[in-house]
Amino acid sequence: MALTGTDNHRWWKESVIYQIYPASFLDSNGDGWGDIPGITSKLDYIKDLGVDIVWCSPMYKSPQADMGYDIADYKDMDPMYGTLADMDKLIAELKKRDMKMMMDLVVNHTSDQHAWFLESRSSLDNPKRDWYIWKKPRLDADGKPQPPNNWAMILGEKNSGWTWDEKTGEYYLALFTAEQPDLNWENPEVREAVHDVLRFWLDRGASGFRMDVINLISKHQDFPDADIIEPDHQYQPGYKYYANGPRLHEFLRDMNREVLSKYDTITVGEMPFVRDEDEIMKVVGAEAGELNMIFVFELVDIDNKPGGFRLTLHPFDASDIKRCITRYQRLMIDRDGWNSLFCENHDNPRSVSRYCDDSDEYRELGAKLLCLMQTTLSGTLYVYQGEELGMRNVPPSWDPEEYKDIEAINFWDKSKAMYGSDEKKLAEAKHVLQRKARDHARTPVQWSAEKNAGFCPPEAKPWMRVNDDYQTVNAEAQLKQSDSDELSVHQFWKRGLANRKKHKDVFVYGDFAPVGEDQEQVFAYKRWTDSEAWVVVLNFSGKEAEWEIPGDVKVEGWMAGNYTAGKPEKGTSGKVKLMPWEGLLGQLKV
Ligand code: NOJ
Repeated sequence: MALTGTDNHRWWKESVIYQIYPASFLDSNGDGWGDIPGITSKLDYIKDLGVDIVWCSPMYKSPQADMGYDIADYKDMDPMYGTLADMDKLIAELKKRDMKMMMDLVVNHTSDQHAWFLESRSSLDNPKRDWYIWKKPRLDADGKPQPPNNWAMILGEKNSGWTWDEKTGEYYLALFTAEQPDLNWENPEVREAVHDVLRFWLDRGASGFRMDVINLISKHQDFPDADIIEPDHQYQPGYKYYANGPRLHEFLRDMNREVLSKYDTITVGEMPFVRDEDEIMKVVGAEAGELNMIFVFELVDIDNKPGGFRLTLHPFDASDIKRCITRYQRLMIDRDGWNSLFCENHDNPRSVSRYCDDSDEYRELGAKLLCLMQTTLSGTLYVYQGEELGMRNVPPSWDPEEYKDIEAINFWDKSKAMYGSDEKKLAEAKHVLQRKARDHARTPVQWSAEKNAGFCPPEAKPWMRVNDDYQTVNAEAQLKQSDSDELSVHQFWKRGLANRKKHKDVFVYGDFAPVGEDQEQVFAYKRWTDSEAWVVVLNFSGKEAEWEIPGDVKVEGWMAGNYTAGKPEKGTSGKVKLMPWEGLLGQLKV
C-alpha cells in the first residue's frame, strides 16, 4: 500500500535536516575552532538552501577525546563552542526563521570526566558504581588481569573494549575509547537521569534528538566472547552481544512514554550493525511507539568487509547501491514505517568520493547525481555540511599525521604495531584511511577562496587542515555561478530541495518501484501517487550507458538532469543514451 494518504503526513517526515559538525563549520572568534555564534551567523544561508531543521553534533562540555561525543556535562556548553546563552540565541534565531533545532543525544556513554563516572570509579561501594559497567578481570596463566571478554574497542579497534582501573581492581566497559565509559542502562537511576537530560533540552526549545548509537544501550548481561571474525586480531567485533540487546525496545518505549510523547518532537536513532527487518520495524513502525526513524548503515557500510571492522575495504558497484536502496524504500512502504535518507555524515568519507568520482572532470556531476537521487527518494532527508557544495575527500598525498580523528590515529598506531616494517601491509592500511577515514568529512567548510577558505580569519590556524581544493570548491563561488547552462552543485541542491517540497506527495510520501532492473550500471526508479508520476534514471558509472525505457514507462518529458540547467533533450521512448554519471528526472503520463 502506498503512503499517499494525508493521514501519514507529519512535519518530521517532510522536513530537510542539515547536519552541522560545529568544530569545522565556522569560527567567529579567530581561535581556529568553529563555534555557536558562527552557526547562528549562517542561518540565512542554511534557510535559503531549503532546510527546516539544524542538527548540531555535540557542543556540550567535553574533553574532546572523541570530538564532543565524550560528554562531561549534558547541561552546559563547552567554552570552545560558546555558552548556554549562545545556544539559547541560536534556538531563538532558528525559531525566528521558522526552523528547528535537533540536539545530539549521546547517552550510551559519557566522558570519563563526567561527574557520574568520577564518582563511579572512586570506590567499589560508591552509590554511582553501578551507573557504569564494571567487571572483575579474567586472570591469565601468569595471574595477570585480562579483560572480561574479547570485545574490541570500536574506534580504531586498537585495544580491548574494556579498560583496566588500577585503583579498584576492575575493568569498565568503554566500547568506543577508554575515555567513553558505557552507561549501565540496567540501572533505573541511569534511565531517569537520561530522561532528565531530554526534558532539559526540550524545555529550552529544542525540537528533538539525534540519538547516538542508541541501539547499543542494552547489552547481553552475560557478556559472552564474540565469535572470531578477524583471526589476525586480538580483539573481535562484539556487536552481536551489544547491538539491539534484550531490553532495547523497553528502554526506548519508556523514553517515549515518559518524555517524548509529552512534546512534539522529531527523533532519529543512530543504529549501526542492525540489518534485521523485523528488528528495524519494532523501532520505526508507525505504531511502534519508539522512534520516528533511524539511521540504517547499510549504504554507508557498502565498502566494509562483511561483518568485519569499519576500516576495511570491500568492492561494490551500482547493483549493490540499487539493491540496498530498493530494499529500504520498499520495506517502509510495505510495512508502514519511516526511514532517514543520507549519504554523508561526520563519520564517513565524502559521498562523491565514495560512490562516484571526485576527479575535476566528474566531481560536480557525481555530487549532482547523488543530490538527484536523495531529493527524489522517500524518507526524511539529511544533508551534511559541505555536501551541498560537493566537497570531496582530502587528497591521498596527505600524511596520516594530518588526520586528527581518534579512530584514524588508533587505527594507524595499531597498523604500525601489527605490521611493523611490512611496507605492503602498511600501504594497504594507509589506503584504507585515504578512502574511509572520518577526517574526510571533518575538514573546515569551504566558504570562500580566501586563505583558510573563510572558515577562520586568514591569520588564524584552523584546528584541521583545509582541503587543498578550496579555491575552486567553495560556497561563495557556487552561490555566484550564474552561467545559465550550468548550475553549481549548491544551486542544483537548492533547486532539488525546492522541487521535493513542491511535489512532496510523490517524493516524500509516494510509492516506489525500481524500473529496468536488468541494466547493471543504471539505477532507475519510479515514484508515483494517484495523480502524478516520475521516473529517475541514474548512471552510476563513469561509462556511457544506454538505458532502454521499459514499455510501461510512459515518459511525458525530461524535466531535469545533471548535465544541463534546462530540460535535457532526450527521447521519450526506446533507448536513452546516458553520459558518464548522468542523472535524469522525467515526468510520466498518469
Ligand atoms: C557515533 C558518532 O557519530 C561518532 O562520531 C562517535 O565516535 C560514536 N558514535 C561514539 O559516540
